[in-house]
Amino acid sequence: MLHEKDIRKIRADFPILSQKIYDRELIYFDNAATTQKPEIVVKKIENGYFRYNANIHRGVHYLSQMATDAHEDARQTVANFIKADKKEDIIFTRGTTEAINLVAFSFGEAFCWAGDEIVLSVMEHHSNIVPWQMLCKRKAMKLRVIPIDENGKLYLDEYEAMLNERTKLIAITHVSNVLGTINPVEQIIEIAHRHDIPVLVDGAQAVPHIAVDVKKLDADFYVFSGHKVYGPTGVGVLYGKEKWLERMPPYQGGGEMIATVSFEKTTYNELPFKFEAGTPDYIGSVAFAEALEYVEKIGIKSIADYENRLTEYALERLKIIRNIRIIGNTGQRTSVLSFMIGDIHPYDIGILLDKLGIAVRTGHHCAQPLMDYFNIPGTVRTSFAFYNTKEEIDTFVAALQKVVDMLL
Ligand code: ALA
Repeated sequence: MLHEKDIRKIRADFPILSQKIYDRELIYFDNAATTQKPEIVVKKIENGYFRYNANIHRGVHYLSQMATDAHEDARQTVANFIKADKKEDIIFTRGTTEAINLVAFSFGEAFCWAGDEIVLSVMEHHSNIVPWQMLCKRKAMKLRVIPIDENGKLYLDEYEAMLNERTKLIAITHVSNVLGTINPVEQIIEIAHRHDIPVLVDGAQAVPHIAVDVKKLDADFYVFSGHKVYGPTGVGVLYGKEKWLERMPPYQGGGEMIATVSFEKTTYNELPFKFEAGTPDYIGSVAFAEALEYVEKIGIKSIADYENRLTEYALERLKIIRNIRIIGNTGQRTSVLSFMIGDIHPYDIGILLDKLGIAVRTGHHCAQPLMDYFNIPGTVRTSFAFYNTKEEIDTFVAALQKVVDMLL
């Protein structure tokens, strides 16, 4: 269990948190957009460029071997973190978005035909909508959308009723980036598998907050980003079951993903390299692994417990704000809180909070269909990480009170 003295120590690992903005202590509550980086992660990047920078999987020389080993060790660390069977099931991508685009393209090429259907939910982030829309356009297919109730809970009966012999894949978020709702993905996958349909889980908002075991979930594909879990930007992960990845064609062509090339015919490399065209971010992958190890050292269960206590505290404190409406309330949530206050535009609240040193996100959060569903222009969103504190929440609530008094 994390205590305040642990948090003080943890905060010292994140130099960015101790700065002032507009002459006030920075309060960073935008962790669902991106998390801050501990010094050791940034040092890992510096160390990579200063000590062993050389292109991987190509050189016979010392530095290249060192870089290759570091990159492949990072792949193993990622596999361990999400309890994948083996590191070959881990494809490095630029992030969640690229991982979903990869599956939408390659799975689509291999398994989808005119009239087929993809099922997703109304609470998806644009990056788990648009790639499937593009596939549907390319192949004359249809998107089916699982509805939610007013609390943000998926209607599982309607979901199951949607499945039929034309359903090719379910693409579902593990945790909503707007509502913080934790979806029952294990149950969703179990239902899909009863109908022999594979499932892609968007884990971008889950991996930083809850222990993920892709084997236990039995996910066919699981995707997430490094930068949301204290790692660098530009590195992410596609986990896929070998039985699918083997049968899917490459997403991009180029170096690394080939076995042999002639003008008549190219043969492809084995997994995972078949899906990793071009020079990967082998410095970023190593820093990403360092971030996962950092998280592991603190313990994802302790993190979840601490963040839940923070969220409960914030929910309680926010009750003093008149006309506040929390959007999404299923009882199963991470540390994301979205709200509206009367009919004040979220943007106005965000701007004023910023001037008081508090970073929150406002707007549609790249989930416009969800905003349409709730018939709202957007929300103010706070999202806490394990380096946030109750004192910061107190300061935030007092600031919000001030802002609301000004605007209401
Ligand atoms: N997907 C990120 C968010 O929800 C950018 O803020």
